[in-house]
Amino acid sequence: MLLEIEDIHVHYGKIAALKGITASVDQGEIVTLIGANGAGKTTTLKTVSGLRPLTSGAIRFDGKDISSMRGHKRVLAGIGQAPEGRGIFPGMTVEENLQMGAYARKDDASKELAEAYELFPRLAERKSQAGGTMSGGEQQMLAIGRALMAKPKVLLLDEPSMGLAPMLVQQIFAIIQEINRRGVTVLLVEQNAQQALQIAHRAYVLETGRVVKSAPAADLLDDPEVRAAYLGGDLGDAAATRGGTPPRDDAGPGDTRPDGTPTGDAGKGSAE
Ligand SMILES: Nc1ncnc2c1ncn2[C@@H]1O[C@H](COP(=O)(O)OP(=O)(O)OP(=O)(O)O)[C@@H](O)[C@H]1O
Ligand SMILES: [Mg+2]
Repeated sequence: MLLEIEDIHVHYGKIAALKGITASVDQGEIVTLIGANGAGKTTTLKTVSGLRPLTSGAIRFDGKDISSMRGHKRVLAGIGQAPEGRGIFPGMTVEENLQMGAYARKDDASKELAEAYELFPRLAERKSQAGGTMSGGEQQMLAIGRALMAKPKVLLLDEPSMGLAPMLVQQIFAIIQEINRRGVTVLLVEQNAQQALQIAHRAYVLETGRVVKSAPAADLLDDPEVRAAYLGGDLGDAAATRGGTPPRDDAGPGDTRPDGTPTGDAGKGSAE
């Protein structure tokens, strides 16, 4: 297994956000975590990338215990992340934002830059535009492109489809599949469970800090409980599951980065 998450417990102060999550991601897989708001999906990703400390449990990557490794070292080790809320540097150009993704690398990143532009032609068209003035969907592309610049072995994606118009949602999922075909392992968190399960190999269902189900993604698409709870309950037209859902709290106007600066897409919601 490339990534092994073993019985991790994580707290925010006294609040137990993760109560013993065990999950793994094999080389070449797309694995998705699905679950309701507050289930612990973001916390799981943040713990893997080193942004949240473990209370107990272990994380192994590439055979090594990385439980207490610093976040920037994990990036160098091959764990790439496009954070929830995107985290674009608003005053830097698109190209500078992409270059920041390769900042920690010592070697030449021009090949990865070309690849990012190939995956996201929109970014190539807008190289010199300030990151903060890109639309919400474009910023999402930029965040993924920037994560790829570090040549990750595994890419952690937190809600890449959040706030995107339906056409862009399709595009983002297609691009995630393409990234995976090019050899990058993917751990994907999504509210958009239907689409996530369609592109994933395996999935874990999280409920209030615990894994309540794990199975091949295709099995969960047919699972009546999963359908009822996460896929709109309708066995027929599953594509419409999230169509009319309003933007979620944490995607809404006034969203801020960890450092408190606005993300710059306030008010865009899902209307781009
Ligand atoms: N900074 C924080 N301080 C206190 N509690 C937090 C903090 N961040 C998350 N939590 C709590 O931890 C639990 C898990 O949150 P997390 O963000 O991981 O959920 P999630 O599955 O990503 O939800 P969503 O689908 O809404 O993004 C929730 O109960 C949440 O309230
Ligand atoms: Mg989340």
